[in-house]
Amino acid sequence: MKLKLKMLIASTAVMGAFAAQPVLADAKPHVVILATGGTIAGTGATSTTTVGYTAAKLGVDQMIASVPELAKVADVRGEQVAQIASESMTNEVWLKLAKRVNEVLAQKDVDGVVITHGTDTIEETAYFLNLVVKSKKPVVVVGAMRPATAISADGPINLYNAVLLAGSKDAMGKGVMVALNDQINAAREVTKTNTSTADTFKSPEMGVLGYMQDNKPHFYRMSTRKNTADSEFDISKLNSLPRVDIVYGYANMDRVAMDADIAAGAQGIVQAGVGDGSVAAQMMPAFRDARKKGVIVVRSSRVGNGIVARNGEANDDKEDLVVSDTLTAQKARILLMLGLTKTHDTKELQRMFYTY
Ligand code: DGL
Repeated sequence: MKLKLKMLIASTAVMGAFAAQPVLADAKPHVVILATGGTIAGTGATSTTTVGYTAAKLGVDQMIASVPELAKVADVRGEQVAQIASESMTNEVWLKLAKRVNEVLAQKDVDGVVITHGTDTIEETAYFLNLVVKSKKPVVVVGAMRPATAISADGPINLYNAVLLAGSKDAMGKGVMVALNDQINAAREVTKTNTSTADTFKSPEMGVLGYMQDNKPHFYRMSTRKNTADSEFDISKLNSLPRVDIVYGYANMDRVAMDADIAAGAQGIVQAGVGDGSVAAQMMPAFRDARKKGVIVVRSSRVGNGIVARNGEANDDKEDLVVSDTLTAQKARILLMLGLTKTHDTKELQRMFYTY
């Protein structure tokens, strides 16, 4: 008995010694928040106003101040890159934002970037950045589905989780991520699936990359496609992007919209076609005329999931068309815009759609 007592006392003393040691907290990561507007910065007339509020009202410093917990987990500073509702996002803001992300991430003392953004076009901005950011450091795009003034506003916890994720070494090399509602989605596959609920962002068939829980990310998969530092696209010297428009497919469609887009200067057309990117008989003459003018035509689908197969619903080889693989039309447009900054060769462009 005595020996056991002595061992217990000895082990307690050892534990006590450890507990007395000053536990040096890991140095906090440096995270930069680039704000662009959206509901996360939105305000409503009352605390129960969750529609009919005004997006893009709070500045980045106000958002940071509204979440004092940020300072406990990271050294955070903010910049206001834009102040817009994201349905008004433009190529000009994209280029300004992307250049600033690359400048900030090139700074050795910056560990990651968070971009606050409206949710309407968050998936497009995230995919654009996924193709042009030249760093493996974490880039997290975050938004909210309820304005900052609402009961149970989701912006503060989404912003807190986004900063944790951007400061996490585990998030390196994952490509640009969209993080809301405790879920981490990849820029390539994420899409808004509900007009107004907090769980709107999903990667329908590919699934989330992981979750935010207990103040850290938990990853379960990675995207298989090239992104960020492995991408071939360089926007550092670009001040504009080629015009690419989307033509929506539906029963009884005609060529008016496509012809108007080309007359307005579109260098590329993405058809969000029915089914497997099918081309209506009455549309094929418009496709051929577009090709004769050197306009690139990409067959995508309005369906949202699945592969648009080459030479499936159209003879792509004969008609010299490109297929979008699994990219939605809105993301195919982004890849085609960037592809057209490098080439008009359809074989090269098709390679890009199988690469990114
Ligand atoms: N106007 C929409 C936008 O800025 C609001 C949606 C949101 O941010 O959640 O994208």
